[in-house]
Order: sequence, then C-alpha cells, then structure tokens
Amino acid sequence: MAMQVANIPEIAADPGRKETYKGLELIRHAPCGAEILNVDLTRPLGQDLFDAVLEVWHQARVIVFRDQNLGPDDQLRFGRRVGELSIIHTEKFAGEDPAIMYISNVKEDGEFVHALPVGEMMFHIDQCYTPNPAKATILYAMELPKTGGNTLFADQVAAYDALDTETKARIEGLRALNVYDYDAGATHTASEVSPDAPRHAHLIARTHPVTGEKALFVNRLMTRSINGLAEAESRQLLEQLFDHQENPAFVYEHRWRLGDLLMWDNRATLHARRDFNAQETRLMRRLTVLGETPA
Ligand code: OGA
Ligand code: MN
Repeated sequence: MAMQVANIPEIAADPGRKETYKGLELIRHAPCGAEILNVDLTRPLGQDLFDAVLEVWHQARVIVFRDQNLGPDDQLRFGRRVGELSIIHTEKFAGEDPAIMYISNVKEDGEFVHALPVGEMMFHIDQCYTPNPAKATILYAMELPKTGGNTLFADQVAAYDALDTETKARIEGLRALNVYDYDAGATHTASEVSPDAPRHAHLIARTHPVTGEKALFVNRLMTRSINGLAEAESRQLLEQLFDHQENPAFVYEHRWRLGDLLMWDNRATLHARRDFNAQETRLMRRLTVLGETPA
C-alpha cells in the first residue's frame, strides 16, 4: 500500500471531542491524539496537573499544547520532568543544550545546518535502532510553511489489536533488526546501509510499560529483517506488517500551528512527515526522552 507518504490520502481534520479531564481542557481526536488547551508551559505545573498530562498522553499517545511561547529552557524543564533526556550524538546537530536538536531546512552559506531538512519522511520510530529507544519526542513549532509538513501518527496499539490471531501468534517473541543510516537514508529506506550504521533488534510486538498494551514496534524506514527467518519470508512478513500498521484508520494527521508543543509516545505510535515547499522555512525545536528496553 503506502510506500510513500504521498500515497496516503490526506486524513480529514477531525473536529474532535471537547472534554474536561482532571483540570485539563482537552480536544480528543480519533484514532489518537489530544489537544491540551489550558496549560502554559512557561509556568510551573502543579504535580496533579502534570500527572493528568501524563495520563492523557498515555491514553492519547500524542498530545499537543496549543499556543505556547517557549524558550529552550521552558522546553527543557518540561522534558526533564517527563524523564532523562537523550544527548544528541551528532555534534553538528546539537543546539544550545546537548539535548536540544533543531529540525529545519534553514541554510547557512548554501548548506543545511539542522537535521531532517527537507521533504517527506517515511513512518518510523525514533531511536529504535538503539538499545533504549526514546519513549517521548517533544517537538516545538517555531516556523512553519504555509501548507504541508503535516506529521502523521499511526496508533500501534490499535494496529496490533487489529491483527488476526494467526499473525499475532506468528510474531510473538520474534525480534526484528532496526538500522538507521542517516547519511544514506534519513527519510526513506536506504537501498544499502553502511556497515557502521547503528542497529538494534527489538521485539516486533512490545508491551507498553505503563499501560500494559501491546504495540507493533517495526517500521518501514528502519526495520530491515526479522531474526531467525529466511530473507524472503522476513521480507514478506515485514511488508505485510508495514502495510497494515500504516493504514489510515490508525492515523491522526497533525496540522501544525505556530506555538504547538507536541509530545508523542514512540512506544505506541509511528510517525511520518508530509512533504512541504522547500522554499519556505520549517523550524522545530526537538528533545527526546530516554525509554526503557522494549519488553
Ligand atoms: C522527528 C521527526 C517529523 C517532523 O523529529 O523525529 O520525525 O514532522 N520529525 O518534522
Ligand atoms: Mn522521527
């Protein structure tokens, strides 16, 4: 099915359901995603409200705080409260703090200066090629193109639940190898990866450490083979899983507004990015929070 993100039809904007939950004003979207309307992250959040935010995050898998005006320190403070931040190892991409990375198509002297500068990006899971992939990614919209550059989130608990019994039994306990070659395949699967590209095998179906839900943990951009299966069988099963897990029925399409601070759960979602006009600036400030070893 959706080899390229462009093949996925635009997912209609869902007005969502307004709700008040433990002091939070929310708009919940289907099949995942929730907007939080009444929190200003430049101010300290009381513990009860912060706990409610995490609860909604675990329920909705993707949360977005609308209308924020955040400096790096505000974003770092929120990120550190969620957990230990990962350090950006690609030095040229690190921002003013070693945990900050900018995603943008900004150029200096004709060269891109930030990570993931242009175009669409296939569905993937951040850092799934490492032993402890990020649990959260926290992206703040600082400059946006007039159209395009939407980020798609596919609910992988829903995707797992929708598998037939036979496929669930077939993938139980299997591990798949995730590889990321940023130089050869930052946004689309590399036809050949460097032997030095970071890689790690993880369970295909993992259990969320907080909610106990099972989720699919493979993705088209980075997952290359299934351990213990012959090449042809591994390829066939992976393609079947990729097509299934990217089904628009599981996808929330986020249309960015300036000042959005969005946090997704990499343990329960895939994300992808749509193309946008390379002549317009798209600038995001990004943090990732270290996760557990998938089990
Ligand atoms: C990321 C990422 C998507 C986007 O920061 O990990 O995939 O919409 N970004 O820029
Ligand atoms: Mn990503």
